[in-house]
Amino acid sequence: MPLLSTHNLTKSFDGVNAVNKLSVTLMPGRITGIIGPNGSGKSTLINVLTGMMPFDRGEVIISRRTHLKKIHAHEVPFYGMTRTFQDVRLFEQLPVLDNILVVLTERSIWSALFEHHTVFHLEQAESVLRKVGLWEKRNELAKNLSYGQRKLLEIARVLAIIHDSAGNIDTIFFDEPFAGLFPEMIKTVITVMKELRDQNRSVVLVEHNMDLIRELSDHLIVLDSGELLAEGRPAEVLARKDVIEAYLGE
Ligand SMILES: Nc1ncnc2c1ncn2[C@@H]1O[C@H](COP(=O)(O)OP(=O)(O)O)[C@@H](O)[C@H]1O
Ligand SMILES: [Mg+2]
Repeated sequence: MPLLSTHNLTKSFDGVNAVNKLSVTLMPGRITGIIGPNGSGKSTLINVLTGMMPFDRGEVIISRRTHLKKIHAHEVPFYGMTRTFQDVRLFEQLPVLDNILVVLTERSIWSALFEHHTVFHLEQAESVLRKVGLWEKRNELAKNLSYGQRKLLEIARVLAIIHDSAGNIDTIFFDEPFAGLFPEMIKTVITVMKELRDQNRSVVLVEHNMDLIRELSDHLIVLDSGELLAEGRPAEVLARKDVIEAYLGE
């Protein structure tokens, strides 16, 4: 059963459809790749699905049951979704460890900072930071990390959100998570994404690197001018003439 599907989803900016009558389905236990030329609506799709901005028409259907015409940002975890951002968003003035503890103990940033952390929270934070190789950096301020480390910290935060949700989070959007990463870091992110898939979650990957798309995607969606140009098995979709042309025309 699909975790999430869209039906004729449309979002326009100043009369131009960034996402245009888009109907797609996200299945559990699958990495869905999303590709398309710059400006084809990949980030906008994730933005409207995660309540960052309203959509204009169409609907989003959660687990075949809940039909939504509107998604508010605060409801997004309730619908089982979380995301990373193309432009990384962290608590810059906080140490790496606190960026994770805020998620685990949260409710508000202030209570998180002054609350006495339990061993349980610290162990969870250690586990996600070790997973992305940032445990040794736990006392550095987020703003002092390298570009790639910042992206890994954002992924660790997503893992913390998933841990903290007690199984509720089942759809994870990664918006260009590999851009600017060194090879070792790329390996780490690949491992994280495959584990999430193997836990029967639905992973959405927006990515320009076709080798990574081929390696990771179980299902591939191609957007062009906000519309669905093609979808299916990656090898078949990437061999299609119209898909190749959409990229050459970029
Ligand atoms: N916040 C915004 N305000 C106005 N136009 C936007 C905004 N976000 C995206 N767009 C426009 O929507 C289209 C799709 O953009 P985007 O979703 O970022 O594409 P992609 O992620 O595929 O590169 C582009 O034409 C872009 O200029
Ligand atoms: Mg984008």
